[in-house]
Amino acid sequence: MSLKDQFGKDILLTGWGHSKFGKLTDETLESLIVQVSAEAIRNSGLEPRDIDEIYLGQFNSGMQPLGFTSSLALQLSEELANVPATRTENACASGSAAFQQGVKAVLAGTARNVLVIGAEKMTDAGTDVVGAALLGASYEMAGKASTTGFTGLFAEVARHYDKRYGAGIERPGFAGAGLSDILGSIAAKNHHNGMDNPYAQMHRDFGEEFCRTVSEKNPMVAEPLRRTDCSPVSDGAAAVVLSLGPASGAATEPVRLAGFGHANDFFPAERRDPTEFAATRVSWERALGMASVGIDGLDFAEVHDCFTIAELIMYEAMGLTPRGEGSRAVQEGWVYKDGKLPVNVSGGLKAKGHPVGATGVSQHVIAAMQLTGTAGAMQLPNARRGAVQNMGGVGIANYVSVLEAV
Ligand code: COA
Repeated sequence: MSLKDQFGKDILLTGWGHSKFGKLTDETLESLIVQVSAEAIRNSGLEPRDIDEIYLGQFNSGMQPLGFTSSLALQLSEELANVPATRTENACASGSAAFQQGVKAVLAGTARNVLVIGAEKMTDAGTDVVGAALLGASYEMAGKASTTGFTGLFAEVARHYDKRYGAGIERPGFAGAGLSDILGSIAAKNHHNGMDNPYAQMHRDFGEEFCRTVSEKNPMVAEPLRRTDCSPVSDGAAAVVLSLGPASGAATEPVRLAGFGHANDFFPAERRDPTEFAATRVSWERALGMASVGIDGLDFAEVHDCFTIAELIMYEAMGLTPRGEGSRAVQEGWVYKDGKLPVNVSGGLKAKGHPVGATGVSQHVIAAMQLTGTAGAMQLPNARRGAVQNMGGVGIANYVSVLEAV
């Protein structure tokens, strides 16, 4: 089965744009949105007048005073006057929410070409404001004081995971490897990968030793998560054009959406097992099922490593290993660039940066680059099919897309 079998039409990613991620003091939310939108439309071979609908993914939650941003992309061209534009919000998965709304508009036949944008400007706000805004994505902590912010929530996940599975992590040939070391290895992998990504916020190959060790330069943020176990606070944007068919004059070959899945979990922590992302697993099953492929059919994956523990549990949610055995994917080298399923070749949120609303769209753009052989130094050989996974909250709003080369 494919999208065409199920819905009678293919959905193509025909053009994309990506800003640099980081602390972008010379950019505004508006300038970032306009920049990536212009790039995506130009690369698709379309004109602004060809765009039938716009979806913008942005979390905001108080990081920017402007709370109504759907029309900002119209600034790009007079030709966008009267185009329906909607902002989607699903915490750190706001970008993928925009993507899937765009997909549904094309599938419904109400739009032929949709511009999907993800954007966030986080660094204008102070640390306290950013921390409080992000905690708005927690049922228990929204509006409450916290010294550890969102890191504290994933640290709790890591502590539960360690209690249940930590003893089993030490394996022959990996002396000393406990959960903390495995998390350090994931950080080191993603920082190493990020060196090849020109859009990445962090170009620092910290290495295993640094990432595994608490130091003045790598302090504990919330036990057991060190600074290098966290994604940074970032600005950035990405955009993609979804179309029924390719336009002449496109900059690259298009990429086909083979399947997509979305699943939300119950919000209160007491209703979820903290050591698995149950709804994330369902979103994987839905997307892979729609694409009629197994995890073995993927050549790479870009996943939501907001914290290193999230990437570890993701290996289990995506079906790469049984529950509690995600560390095997690191220890046996599967998720490295030369492994059987390279994960976060872009550097992931860890090194690329995590402007929250932009992340889901960025992951689709990076995957599209891989599938069209335009990923530059990040390029994997023979990348024909890949998946992207984006998560809002602690496993609450979960989106997966399977994309393939045409
Ligand atoms: N990983 C590695 N290095 C980081 C980093 C990160 N996440 N964040 C900052 N740094 C580096 C900076 O580049 C800087 O290096 P330098 O001194 O060599 O120039 C140094 O650490 C200090 O930067 P600063 O911004 O003062 O760090 P901080 O301690 O204020 O913030 C975190 C670090 C991890 C607390 C912050 O990035 C954070 O809160 N991240 C999580 C964001 C989040 O929750 N997102 C939502 C996820 S769902």
